[in-house]
Amino acid sequence: MSWQSQPLNKRIVAFDKELIHAGNKGLAIDHEEVAVEVDALMATMTLSQKINQLHGLQPASIDGFYYAGGDEELGLAPYKMVDGPRGARAGMATAFPVAIGRAATFDVELERRVGLAMGLEVAAKGGNVILAPTINLLRHPGWGRAQETYSEDPWHMGAMAVAFISGAQNHVLTSPKHFALNNLEITRFDLSANIDVRSLHEVYLPHFKRSIQETAAASVMSAYNKMNDVYCGEHPILLTDILRDDWGFTGFVESDWFLGTRSTAAAIDAGMDIEMPSTHWYSEENINEALASGELNEEAIHRNARRVVYQNVAWQIADMEVPDERVVECEEHIALAREVAEKSFVLLKNDKILPLEDTPGLKVALVGDLADTVNLGDRGSSFVTSSEVSTPLSGLQAFIKHASLHYFRSDDDLTRLGEFDICIVVAGLTYVEEGEFIPTQQQEVEEGELARGGDRETFALPDHQRFLIDTVAGVAKKTIVLLEGGSAIQVTDWLDKVDALLMLWYPGREGGHAIANVLFGNCSPSGKLPVSFPRSMDQLMPWDVNSLSVDHSLLHGYRLLDHQDQEPAFPFGFGMSYTTFDLDGLQIERTADHFNVTVSVTNTGTVSGVEIVQLYVSCTDSTVFRVPKELKGFGRAELEAGETADLEMNLGDEDLRYYDPEQNGWVLESCSYDLQLGVSSRDLPLSSGWLFDGVEWQPV
Ligand code: BGC
Repeated sequence: MSWQSQPLNKRIVAFDKELIHAGNKGLAIDHEEVAVEVDALMATMTLSQKINQLHGLQPASIDGFYYAGGDEELGLAPYKMVDGPRGARAGMATAFPVAIGRAATFDVELERRVGLAMGLEVAAKGGNVILAPTINLLRHPGWGRAQETYSEDPWHMGAMAVAFISGAQNHVLTSPKHFALNNLEITRFDLSANIDVRSLHEVYLPHFKRSIQETAAASVMSAYNKMNDVYCGEHPILLTDILRDDWGFTGFVESDWFLGTRSTAAAIDAGMDIEMPSTHWYSEENINEALASGELNEEAIHRNARRVVYQNVAWQIADMEVPDERVVECEEHIALAREVAEKSFVLLKNDKILPLEDTPGLKVALVGDLADTVNLGDRGSSFVTSSEVSTPLSGLQAFIKHASLHYFRSDDDLTRLGEFDICIVVAGLTYVEEGEFIPTQQQEVEEGELARGGDRETFALPDHQRFLIDTVAGVAKKTIVLLEGGSAIQVTDWLDKVDALLMLWYPGREGGHAIANVLFGNCSPSGKLPVSFPRSMDQLMPWDVNSLSVDHSLLHGYRLLDHQDQEPAFPFGFGMSYTTFDLDGLQIERTADHFNVTVSVTNTGTVSGVEIVQLYVSCTDSTVFRVPKELKGFGRAELEAGETADLEMNLGDEDLRYYDPEQNGWVLESCSYDLQLGVSSRDLPLSSGWLFDGVEWQPV
């Protein structure tokens, strides 16, 4: 065949670093220049002025903003910090789908755009630090704040986090949180997360490290909990040895709020720079006392204050532009929120029922109170209020032109459902069952802005929700379940009774419109699970929401399920489409320090769609324990029907190493590696074996 008749396939580069990191101001800092300016300023500062840099400026937020670090005399404008992970928590703002939903898109470029939009909205409201992203690994899907984070997998988490950070840092400073091991909610103020050095570096910290080294996150928030019996806010190993000495972090660390600081000298010495939101332990009086008793020395005050001042100068906080407030909830951000929601939905079951066709004569029933409920996620610190929210009901009402739509609340007469061609049930969770734990009685009674949340003791849906699904499925001709929630939910007890299941997460202000577009085939679902859906909690490690001590290891999520050879209800990385794909032509090219992995992806169906290709690595003859396989790359192929693309991924040697506690460092072991490619952690049809002899790599 001549070159003319052989069309070149579209080429897709997964994780295009240049594109992801474009415009990130943290990466453009001229550190030499800043250091000179900061040292000159520091030389003029009194002890009292330095101490003033070390705490927030008032206990309650002002219009959502928490202030720190300002000093008029020195010409330093204050940091104005605001939550959080799904949008600006200051008045009205674009409520994006929660982070776990955005993670289901496996779309780093999209997440960068979300970061850009949230950063811009924060800046337009006068803020300069966004208290996001939350990147605590989802060790157990019952964690109340699962919705705020991205994944049970550190590589996936790292990719989404750096995309968000680089996007947001076009406009404002970011603050990846909570450093570290904050993954049980109810006991977060007292709990000790116990962990060995290897699991810490290999599983629970890589995404924090990437946030610092790859994308220059400007600040880090410490966690409430303890690590190995020492509070994270005063942990020298976390805050100094790892964060600064090992990773080279030059930003500041602020405490988590209220109970995030537990001491004066110990916390300052360990490297926790700013007590938030105001001062107690870091008051001038306490610090002077600690200095006088010799518990603390002035150098530590100088060092910590310098870190706070450093970012202020580097980011030129006083001269930061405040964009026009009309960018908040602007058309572009609303369209983005809708696009993200559409791409975040995960089709888990489809018995030839979806997509629906909006034809005259089609009788659709929409069932359940959640269909008519604004359900944006928890009501803890990440709660965002939008001026308008499209619910499943309003979204379908706006979309449907020809079919008929009838809405049933849960207590309506559901025996009539048999008259409809299709019954769509909206079921799931709300801020009452999961979220940041804010249990004050008054708030529960008032059903005010903040509410209970907490960890989930069970994956099962609340009884009334299961009853609703059972009732509808018992009467309806065809049942589609739309499931809202921020993590894995048990589906095994009712899945067989329904015809289709679409996981929505908490889909943000545009959720309803996105639902209509996906259900009626304007776009094909393309999300994949960022968290394994076990058959029940029994498949995972023991889980006690009141525990004060939790042991961490290399095994959780799909790593644990693989290791124990357990079949989950739906594996990590799983999600269906309205079309079909074929993967072939795996090519692997070895360079000096990485593999170029290319695979051809063809849309073999009749409609356009997206396949998310995943690359896992197994180390087959290691001398140390290795989990069966680990995700080390992914890419998205958006393809028209019949189209083929060559998807290129880059697998670096650093991703093949394990952490050796004896050497306190990473080791690239001489052994065999199996590179496996496919479309979920349990569907990996292509593979290629490689042997490393300590010097060279050979295919086997
Ligand atoms: C949460 C943080 C949040 C902070 C400020 C804390 O309780 O743990 O994630 O950023 O409050 O609202």
